[in-house]
Amino acid sequence: MQKNFKRTLITTALPYANGPVHIGHLAGVYVPADIYARYLRLKGEEVLFIGGSDEHGVPITIKAKAEGVTPQDIVDRYHNIIKDSFKELGISFDVYGRTTSDTHRRMASDFFRRLYEKGEFIEKTSEQLYDEEARQFLADRYVTGTCPHCGNERAYGDQCEACGTSLNATDLINPRSAITGNVPVMRETSHWYLPLDKWEPKLRQWILEEHKEWKTNVYGQCKSWLDLGLQPRAVSRDLDWGIPVPVDGAEGKVLYVWFDAPIGYISNTVDCVGDDWTRWWKDPETRMLHFIGKDNIVFHCIVFPAMLMADGSYNLPDNVPANEFLNLEDDKISTSRNWAVWLHEYLQELPGKQDTLRYVLTANAPETKDNNFTWKDFQTRNNSELVAILGNFINRAVVLVGKYYGGEVPEAGKPEQFDLDTLAEIERAVKAVGENLDNFRFREALREAMNIARAGNKYLADSEPWKLIKTDPERVKTILNTAIRICGILAVVFEPFLPFMSEKLSRMLRLGKLSWGMTAQPDLVPAGTRLGETELLFEKIEDSTVEFQIGKLLEAKKKNQLAAWKPEPVKETVGFGTFEKLDIRVGRVLECEKVPKADKLLRFLIDDGMNRRTIVSGIAKYYQPEDLIDKEVCFIANFEPRKLKGVVSEGMILSAQNSDGRLIVIGPHGEVTPGSSVG
Ligand code: 2FM
Ligand code: ZN
Repeated sequence: MQKNFKRTLITTALPYANGPVHIGHLAGVYVPADIYARYLRLKGEEVLFIGGSDEHGVPITIKAKAEGVTPQDIVDRYHNIIKDSFKELGISFDVYGRTTSDTHRRMASDFFRRLYEKGEFIEKTSEQLYDEEARQFLADRYVTGTCPHCGNERAYGDQCEACGTSLNATDLINPRSAITGNVPVMRETSHWYLPLDKWEPKLRQWILEEHKEWKTNVYGQCKSWLDLGLQPRAVSRDLDWGIPVPVDGAEGKVLYVWFDAPIGYISNTVDCVGDDWTRWWKDPETRMLHFIGKDNIVFHCIVFPAMLMADGSYNLPDNVPANEFLNLEDDKISTSRNWAVWLHEYLQELPGKQDTLRYVLTANAPETKDNNFTWKDFQTRNNSELVAILGNFINRAVVLVGKYYGGEVPEAGKPEQFDLDTLAEIERAVKAVGENLDNFRFREALREAMNIARAGNKYLADSEPWKLIKTDPERVKTILNTAIRICGILAVVFEPFLPFMSEKLSRMLRLGKLSWGMTAQPDLVPAGTRLGETELLFEKIEDSTVEFQIGKLLEAKKKNQLAAWKPEPVKETVGFGTFEKLDIRVGRVLECEKVPKADKLLRFLIDDGMNRRTIVSGIAKYYQPEDLIDKEVCFIANFEPRKLKGVVSEGMILSAQNSDGRLIVIGPHGEVTPGSSVG
């Protein structure tokens, strides 16, 4: 901390309750925020960790419409799924609220009213996009079009997710209604606008001058928006789902979801600590941090701070450690394409593997650029790092203490230089973990934490207590006392990252309540401690587990391809005479083999009812040659012979190109004598 803060308020982006959360959300926001909250708690700092569901806005109403249920049904369903799955993953929120709560409705209405009464809004009547068929004004996700800044053709009415710019619906080029696909007309309506331009000088000073330490991705985005110049932004909408605008003459208008959602952080604080909430939001000695994904930067660095400035009595965030995006198997995570690993499904399908997911998402965190999650990497990191390095070291140390001393930690003798060097390396690594966490560098912090386990393994491997026990049993006592102390350090240092492992290890070492300071205690696990029952810390992940997950993704890909597939347009009309010129026959495959040095080609020997013939076909990617033997196929018999990779092909085997791109051989449905004509 640079300033003298006394406590930290950590907020995490409130996910829309229109679907479950996936690994992209976790890696970008919730896992790093949880690591940070746990780390501060270990250091004994006062922390409040806020989460909750974002239950208003167009994403909810679109989902409700698609399912033919009410928006309330949607948010009730997903709020609970999201809340429960976060809990099971060990995300240690102090509160997980919702923006349909009474507290929130009151807090958001009061906030609006206060600004309204202070004259902080401009009320303006203007022409807005309107869908005549749906009888609906089009804002936010109800309208898509081309982003005027980057040319992305799928920009929304309030934001372009490709370049992050915040937009007004009327900025879009070629807008289309997302409800009917119609081109909207213009119709007059009046709204309340927050004049962001009024706050621009203050925002410039606050971000560009006073927060040069912010992550470069965050600082850079803010700078480019500020350099573009800020515009007044509508904070109300013509919708029937949301918090009603709490002033006279506002019938049919609700608060814009991005006006109410960040106030949700305040409402959830109220639900958590009651009247004490002002200490967390208004006392300058409280530090506020917003953990978010990069698509939310503009709202947390420009719009919400401008709202807070307009009120005048709130703190501004001290930092906004936004992450980039996580891809999945080299493709963008997408809810609509079901290209995601859903947290609630992961928890069901890989029970007890919460720490593995937390570990892999942190090791691959998209901190400075977009990053990629693959199931193979997930398996490797679990098996080669968690099992083979961390689990292995702890297991060896504990098993040896069991074997030589009946599970009682031995007294250390005088340390040798090797012991001191190892402990010095570990002390360095612990410090590095802390420094990296202080600076939101979670990947690097985790790497340093693993270095402690690596140092532990090396310590045992080089000192070989299993050999020395015969020749120098006194020395073994020192070695294993030191090894158990390293295990204790691991329990503390890994608590923010792998809380489930840390809890088990703490039980085994009888550590009690953990604190970061314990890492420096020589008697962290005092000699004479009787170790608790050995618990399994990590389990190997088998090939079949990841194959099942990869299979699920392939299934989703297939479905998407099918949904997106359209048959090719029908070709120009031809007469029967043209068709008759092609001599199509049925043949039986006698031989089939790969053509050497040609990935795509198969050589067929066909019983054509005449003199047998050889045909070469480019379908090797889709068949095992032996599977085609004895099958009946259709082929063009009067096709001009061609030489392919040295083999003369006397015809063409007919195949259909499937929606997934595969070529499938065409044959008769019923027994047909080779040589029969097709027509
Ligand atoms: O992008 C989203 O998923 C939004 N629901 C995040 C809201 S964050 C906050 F301000 F509440
Ligand atoms: Zn754009």
